[in-house]
Amino acid sequence: MRLGRLAAAALAALALAGCGRRSADPQAYAVVIGVSQANLTEPWRITMNEEIRTEAAGYPDLRVVFADAADSADRQIRDVRKLLDSGIDLLIVSPVDAVALTPVIDEAYARIPVVLLDRSVEGYGYTLYIGPDNRIVGKQAGQYIAGLLGKRGGKVLEIRGRSGSPPVIERERGFREAISHVPRITIVDTITADWLRDKAEDEVTAWFQSHQGVDVIFAQNDAMAYGAWRAAKKLGRTGIVFVGVDGLPDPRGGIEMVKRGILSATFTCPTGGREAVIYAMDILRREEGIPKKMFLRTSLVTNQTLAAGEVAPAPRDPGDASGRRIVLGFAQVGKESEWRLANTESIRTAAREAGIELVFVDGEQRQENQIRAIREFIARKVDVIAFSPNVESGWRPVLLEAKAAGIPVILTDRAVDEKDETLWVTLMGSDFVEEGRRAARWLVEHLDTTDPVNIVELQGTVGSAPAIDRKVGFEEVLAEHPNYRIIRSVSGDFFRSIGEVVMREILVDLHASGERVDVLFAHNDDMAIGAIAAMEEMGIAPGRDVVIVSVDAIRDAFKAMIDGTLNCTVECSPLLGKQLMKAVKDYMAGKDLPIRMVTAEEVFPAEVARKVLPTRKY
Ligand code: AHR
Repeated sequence: MRLGRLAAAALAALALAGCGRRSADPQAYAVVIGVSQANLTEPWRITMNEEIRTEAAGYPDLRVVFADAADSADRQIRDVRKLLDSGIDLLIVSPVDAVALTPVIDEAYARIPVVLLDRSVEGYGYTLYIGPDNRIVGKQAGQYIAGLLGKRGGKVLEIRGRSGSPPVIERERGFREAISHVPRITIVDTITADWLRDKAEDEVTAWFQSHQGVDVIFAQNDAMAYGAWRAAKKLGRTGIVFVGVDGLPDPRGGIEMVKRGILSATFTCPTGGREAVIYAMDILRREEGIPKKMFLRTSLVTNQTLAAGEVAPAPRDPGDASGRRIVLGFAQVGKESEWRLANTESIRTAAREAGIELVFVDGEQRQENQIRAIREFIARKVDVIAFSPNVESGWRPVLLEAKAAGIPVILTDRAVDEKDETLWVTLMGSDFVEEGRRAARWLVEHLDTTDPVNIVELQGTVGSAPAIDRKVGFEEVLAEHPNYRIIRSVSGDFFRSIGEVVMREILVDLHASGERVDVLFAHNDDMAIGAIAAMEEMGIAPGRDVVIVSVDAIRDAFKAMIDGTLNCTVECSPLLGKQLMKAVKDYMAGKDLPIRMVTAEEVFPAEVARKVLPTRKY
């Protein structure tokens, strides 16, 4: 670790609030982290800084320097520049505005590691993003309110934070997803109160002057929920249920408001301050297996969940694993693709390097084999179970068995379709929806046409997370371009050989019906390569007559791009081994894991293939 170079004079000039324990001389610290906070008017952000301070106190050689941008993007740009000039080793930043802050954060990332907290920037110019999954927060709130209102339904008044900010958009989206299909629930109005208690109180007071009652007020944070509650109380409006978000544990926070009956419920929204310091130190120590994005777990807080002790589980005892070899049971999907082989290799190598005993079972593409393997792991009392679910549904019974046996489960690569998120400790892997979107965005930009475009889609395994999500992402982008039409969509099960057979059948069928195919979107490279063979056999020039975009970015895809038969591949990294072993070790050491970890990925068009191929690891 290099020495922090924060000069005392620069510190004074910055007038930043430092946090250190041992010495007033910044040169005495080995590492200096700069924290650029968006504002300190929101209690949630004050807590974030407090968490950073408290966690940092555990590292004697670490000094943390804070800057408050007072909600001004211009000021935050200046703060970041000053922190950089002062010689910090790593920047933690919670941006006021994603767009305005992107250039300066890019600048910072070119010099030092950058950890983004809570709000992201445009693009991928940062080391790690940590934050809540705001869509899930909104969705859980919607599900809770739908359950509360039951069959008779009711009217909901929504109070949101600052217009256009990502958490507002995401929470709103999740909330609507959860209640849109529930009959008799209506959002009667949406008030914008900028995350502030007083503004919420004023706005809700004014709203009540001209509106009839509501059944539920859902505010996107607890401070605004409290403001709304004060307005209702002042005006003698009774019978309203208040629901907030944040669930801070301090005496004026959401948990206390639930206990006092002000809020019926809140949803914890971890600030990530603690995790930011932990991972910042891991990054500075150059630990391997750091993901690109981390989403923290959110949980429902009501008087019932508090009584059941579900909100803040007791810290785990790392005890019995220390000093002995950790045993990890891993149930793999099978051997369907180059991706999967690389994934298996990455897990085996990382386990060996980490000194973890790996009990590896190949599920041979069958869910029942994976379930049997997990049951064997439970019987064998392994320390941790990890698996990559072949399909999304049907896992609940075996996950409950693992939970009952007290064995943590880590999902790698693929998700399960199960509401109870306490059945696994984390899910690590790619964002498949985003991969689908990226494929479609590339396509639309590449073709740049308003003429009709006929697309054939080769889907992955039916019912698997990547097949479901890539389709969703791809169609989401194409919905904005009605000239693009998917004319055939068939599963090739992620196998190269099946991709070839299925494509041949489709081409024969299209020929018979006199239809034209302009584009192939294959959910993985292997199926695309199989389809390329089928096209060539039928006298079609892949890459020219038909534009082909696929997912994974395996070495063979780069070779096909160099040959001119494939046009673009969207990366989906199988190299999850190091990340998995780090998670296993962290968990066994008593650390909490984020609910979701997302890997870093890129889009590779044919133009870069020759240059990139030598760097590919799979
Ligand atoms: O789950 C990841 C997918 O599974 C890969 O994209 C595909 O090639 C693999 O078999």
